[in-house]
Amino acid sequence: MKDIILTGDRPTGRLHLGHLVGSLKQRVELQNSGKYEQIFIEIADAQATTDNSGNIQKVKDNVIEVALDYLSCGIDPKKSTIFLQSEVPELSDLTFYYMNLVTFSRLKRNPTVKQEIEYRGFNNSIPVGFMTYPISQAADITGFNANIVPVGDDQLPMIEQTREIVRTFNRLYGEVLVEPHAVLPKNEFCKRLPGIDGNAKMSKSLGNCIYLADTKEEVEKKVMSMFTDPNHVKVSDPGKTEGNPVFIYLEAFCKDEHFEKYFKNEETKELEYKNLDELKAHYERGGLGDMKVKRFLNFVLQDTLEPIRKRRCELENNIPEVYQILFDGSDKARNIVADTLGKVKKAMGLDYRNDKDFITKQAEKYSSNS
Ligand code: TRP
Repeated sequence: MKDIILTGDRPTGRLHLGHLVGSLKQRVELQNSGKYEQIFIEIADAQATTDNSGNIQKVKDNVIEVALDYLSCGIDPKKSTIFLQSEVPELSDLTFYYMNLVTFSRLKRNPTVKQEIEYRGFNNSIPVGFMTYPISQAADITGFNANIVPVGDDQLPMIEQTREIVRTFNRLYGEVLVEPHAVLPKNEFCKRLPGIDGNAKMSKSLGNCIYLADTKEEVEKKVMSMFTDPNHVKVSDPGKTEGNPVFIYLEAFCKDEHFEKYFKNEETKELEYKNLDELKAHYERGGLGDMKVKRFLNFVLQDTLEPIRKRRCELENNIPEVYQILFDGSDKARNIVADTLGKVKKAMGLDYRNDKDFITKQAEKYSSNS
């Protein structure tokens, strides 16, 4: 079977380092591996309306931010189809039919949705559309016959729910839909990057993000203000690297070549630290100050972000072209989902126009009555 990838993001803000290591890097690698038949990347603006009904403008404004972030990270519209969810109305038809294959109590058990409800303070005023967005996400995935969905671990419940919908549909109506599976980042530290304040999640609403579009100065300021081990007060104190965001970021971003570049003594040509293990060991022993580690992290992040920033600047001069990329992608996406919808309706027996046999039989039924 040919492998088809689908993934996406809600356009509710600029993308940050958590997105970069949690999904964007992996997408670019998958894209450039050339192993995949097709790659679809959805800007899920319709899904974003499910908890932003009073602020659609925010969703609308962030579409371009996300598109710019994608393109500047190396997503190439010649290899991957970037599209806008709201431009593919057939997805809503699929959602409508899938809704009957999921119980209300099943929806309420989705741990990510539960967390979001609490977090957004919906209490008993949960929008119905929000509650059902995992079903619409199943439409996003199955509409493209995607079998591979690269995501962060918070999206695993959505993929599980999609798999259940696929199995139920195929059992009731015949083998039409493809069962997808999730692909998580390989690096353990990339699955969920903490915020610069030490909170378990980097998130816009917590104000603890380093954005891909942040300037050099902003990145430096944020890194220098990062939360570390609170018990590491004096340089000579032994420090904890586990759960320490500065070291978690290093685990996620630094490579041995960064040690070569930033820890080489110019005279002796000796490396002060050969790799992250050596740096961690020194911190844990005591004698290594936070400032020095942060300065190193700043260099590593600047090296990572500089090329992204540069490409973003170029793209910002071509905004109408960026929208055109989204429209072209959406046209292509729409054709594919329309085809899936046709198959779904046919399997369910809802394809009256093409069911000549059915119409003939109906005619016979009525003529034998007369
Ligand atoms: N729910 C995802 C998020 O909040 C976005 C999304 C929408 C998505 N449709 C998808 C992710 C399909 C993967 C596959 O970021």
